[in-house]
Amino acid sequence: MRRVLVIGIGMGDPAALTFRAVEAINQADVFFFLDKGEAAGELIGLREAILRAHRREPWRAVTAPSPKRGTAGGYRAGVKAWHDARAALFAGLIDQEIAEGGVGAFLVWGDPMLYDSTLRVLEAARGHGIDFEIAVIPGITAVQALCAAHAIPLNGIGEPVEVTTGRRVTAGTPEAPAFVVLLDDGSGLAALMARGWEGHVWWGAYLGTADERLLAGRLTEVGEAILAARAEARARKGWIMDVWLARPLPAAGASFETL
Ligand SMILES: C[S@@+](CC[C@H](N)C(=O)[O-])C[C@H]1O[C@@H](n2cnc3c(N)ncnc32)[C@H](O)[C@@H]1O
Repeated sequence: MRRVLVIGIGMGDPAALTFRAVEAINQADVFFFLDKGEAAGELIGLREAILRAHRREPWRAVTAPSPKRGTAGGYRAGVKAWHDARAALFAGLIDQEIAEGGVGAFLVWGDPMLYDSTLRVLEAARGHGIDFEIAVIPGITAVQALCAAHAIPLNGIGEPVEVTTGRRVTAGTPEAPAFVVLLDDGSGLAALMARGWEGHVWWGAYLGTADERLLAGRLTEVGEAILAARAEARARKGWIMDVWLARPLPAAGASFETL
């Protein structure tokens, strides 16, 4: 039976991988790199740096251009067609590049359980008539890296947290007492500002890399600075990955200290 290791590599810092991830890196016969466009060169470079740091022997890597997500038929139809195309690609890679009894590995940004389709796409790849085992090795997510960088807890005491996307925040303000927003192109934050939302935000870009940027404060005071910093960084580097945590101002009589 072939094995596919789905290894969470955190935010690209070789020092932030788990020992299990390092072990898995040393078990793989082949690594699959997907070229996803704008940030691809740099993100593949960060993966290679991780292999240089942790792989004890020379490695073999196969780089494939990732199919692009189309917009035909709306967002969900676009995602479905994109996943189907990736499933066919993954099935081909596994079939052609992993020998029977061999081990292939995907190095997944952060952790594979959070806003990442690798596991769903691998499941769909089984539909192409090939059989393989999957093992997942967890990694540090952008959410953990954000909280660590700001030295803050994610949740208030006994409180829920909503993990959501910029697209959803653009459509409406989450009601949870804390919400963390990934995949925002700036529109989600701008929408909160336009609605006059009152609360505190903790923002981080390129977490765990040499370009890390952090800003925090009341949205009314730091919102413009965050949007300017993200626009400047995006223009300079050509891509950006940022994440933010938001908490509405505490009700009268409460304070953040009680959170
Ligand atoms: C497709 S999701 C992948 C999330 C990833 N699986 C994880 O565990 O964090 C990509 C989003 O994660 C966040 N992200 C990933 N890497 C980041 C980083 N180094 N700094 C800030 N945000 C990051 C951004 O919100 C980005 O839009």
